[in-house]
Amino acid sequence: MPGAEQPAPKEEPETLTILAIETSCDESAVAILRQTATAPAEILCSLVSSQIELHRSYGGVVPEVASRNHSLILRSLVEQALDEAGLQSNNIDAFVATRGPGLSSSLLVGHTMAKALAAASGGNFLSVNHMEGHLLSPFLSNSRTSWKSPGLMIPAHLALIVSGGHTMLIHARQAGDYHMIGRTVDDAAGEAFDKVARMLGLPYPGGPEIEKQARKGNPEAFQFPRSMPGELNFSFSGLKTAVRYTLPKIDDLTARAPDICASFQKAVTDVLVSKSLRAAHECGCNIITLSGGVSCNKAIRSALNDKCMAEGLHFLACPPGLSTDNAAMIAFAALLKIRNGATGSMSEDIDPNFSLC
Ligand code: KG4
Ligand code: ZN
Repeated sequence: MPGAEQPAPKEEPETLTILAIETSCDESAVAILRQTATAPAEILCSLVSSQIELHRSYGGVVPEVASRNHSLILRSLVEQALDEAGLQSNNIDAFVATRGPGLSSSLLVGHTMAKALAAASGGNFLSVNHMEGHLLSPFLSNSRTSWKSPGLMIPAHLALIVSGGHTMLIHARQAGDYHMIGRTVDDAAGEAFDKVARMLGLPYPGGPEIEKQARKGNPEAFQFPRSMPGELNFSFSGLKTAVRYTLPKIDDLTARAPDICASFQKAVTDVLVSKSLRAAHECGCNIITLSGGVSCNKAIRSALNDKCMAEGLHFLACPPGLSTDNAAMIAFAALLKIRNGATGSMSEDIDPNFSLC
């Protein structure tokens, strides 16, 4: 199939219906998005089948287990999505998959399925960057303006993306025009949440567990480091090590876990908030967006919201339901690309290290 021709480009339809598949890590996700003329994009259906339970006993994601389960579930997920949206595959204009970054064996399953669907039903195939999906997700329910000038749909902004694999500050001038201004030099923020949770014997994924514990704790109880002050890059491994060295000194770990979690979460929050504000000022942006799995965290959302309000900036967070991996954000990234003239190609291949900019 690679190298096969796409159907001849048709005049772009007023209404675009996109089916997207996301399998970059341990969530198998399928979504159908529709957008007509000047209306906002509408999610007709967004399904996520999580493999968290399968990976929990390993304390993290096992690539072979992930890809095997994507291939077991994906077909029925696609059928269910079409069913829920009341559509058939020949009603879909474009089949989209995540190209990367992610686990190669997992990406391959979603990519191959989307290509097969496109080939069988005559739709186009397009693949998009997973991080672009996260980056654009805060605008999914806020997209407006005519699709005839799609660049206008996404205003210039400073994007903070915090996920299990990435922590990035990106100056987005418009959809597709991104400039990286900060990234983690070691662990991602989500990875630090997961590793600290593991040290405390909390289950995977650690982020939600730490947040739960932190609600009962004192964020000032332990003074953990705020690393790389004055820079726009991040480092979370020193913070993780500081927690590791603190734990053996504590007598009753169960009793102090809430204080550890609250202090750790506060250290992560302080760093994310201060660097985002600084980056926005440096780029001259008056909008800050927050997305990625860690953006589920209410303490981080509200701290960034409060700071933006205090400094007269607009704050736009991804809806909690679209924070962790999902296919609606992949469909939305593809929609903007198609409205900007992209047609995709059957020869597009996965790229586990696909960089955004
Ligand atoms: O974006 P995502 O679903 O997957 C990646 O692309 O990496 O992010 C998953 C990450 C995990 O590290 C998880 O622990 C973290 O998001 N996470 C949270 C919360 N919910 C999920 N971190 C902090 N607080 C949360 N409530
Ligand atoms: Zn993700």
